[in-house]
Amino acid sequence: MTSTVVVGGFFGDEGKGKIISYLAIKDNPSIIVRGGAGPNAGHTIRDGDRVYKVRMLPSGFLNKNAKVMIGPGVVINPDVLLKEIRDFDASGRSFIDKHCGIIEETHLTRDSKGDLKEKIGSTGSGTGPANADRAMRVLKLAKDFDSLSSLIVDVPEEINSAISKNENVLIEGTQGTFLSLWHGTYPFVTSKDVTASGICADIGLGPKNVDEVIVVFKSYVTRVGTGPLANELTLEQAQSKGWSEFGTVTGRQRRAADFDFDLARRAIMLNSATQISITKLDVIFPSCAGMTSYDNLPEEAKSFIQNIERELNIPVTIIGTGPAIDDVIDRRS
Ligand code: IMP
Ligand code: MG
Repeated sequence: MTSTVVVGGFFGDEGKGKIISYLAIKDNPSIIVRGGAGPNAGHTIRDGDRVYKVRMLPSGFLNKNAKVMIGPGVVINPDVLLKEIRDFDASGRSFIDKHCGIIEETHLTRDSKGDLKEKIGSTGSGTGPANADRAMRVLKLAKDFDSLSSLIVDVPEEINSAISKNENVLIEGTQGTFLSLWHGTYPFVTSKDVTASGICADIGLGPKNVDEVIVVFKSYVTRVGTGPLANELTLEQAQSKGWSEFGTVTGRQRRAADFDFDLARRAIMLNSATQISITKLDVIFPSCAGMTSYDNLPEEAKSFIQNIERELNIPVTIIGTGPAIDDVIDRRS
């Protein structure tokens, strides 16, 4: 197995960041490469006592032996990226493609008002307006900025060459399947396709070079911003279940609902999933907290997982049991 794509199966915030950082250390890929929209994504990673909140850098940056890259389909906020590279000690091993789009002041301004802000509930990160400008062929690209020149490599060339040498490459999606511009709950979606195919297009990887597609589902569904959420709980119900969460980028309270099998089935289809990852099992079954062995799980947690495998017909291989990167049950043989 050489190339693994990890994408979100619901509305983002499934816990991809934690799963990707686990895989980045466990599988020791030579490259971890990010596709997806832009700095509208937020990943929270906990390593021991340290909590990292990343918006631009691939979540696999904790593996210091790996190169981290951002594919040409992604739009970058240079201030956010350069700060994360500095703060997270990732210089010399962080790279972008010359065709990455660049978010400027105008995009932030346009994203902080009007329909995008009020109707869609955008993150205000400038991602949508930058992608709109790209479609209009007026967006500036990374190659137009001297301050970024030392970060630029040919990302598609690097990853395809690593794969042809049988090195592991980990491909990191952002957002979630139902925030996809093509397949989500339009117009309440992000500004790109964020299914596995879209993520691969973002980084320049063709469909025949993908070995595994891991779709990450949280044990329940959350959604931040507006748009439909079937069987949405009231705030009080979500709080009493311990499901009340706040967004990494916006700090907004996330809306919540039970695990949704209809959405999950469709996400499996749209992403051609080969494996499922389930996160936050400990939030539903607190006695699972920190467990690393499937056999030790309580019966009710095992039947929750078995039911997902039966309904979706794909193996649940990686289970998150807590916020730290090694709070994981790994059932891959
Ligand atoms: P935009 O991507 O900032 O334009 O926001 C469009 C919609 O997608 C809003 O409902 C956002 O809350 C949502 N969204 C964008 N990125 C993420 C993410 O990474 N996690 C969760 N929701 C997101
Ligand atoms: Mg997030």
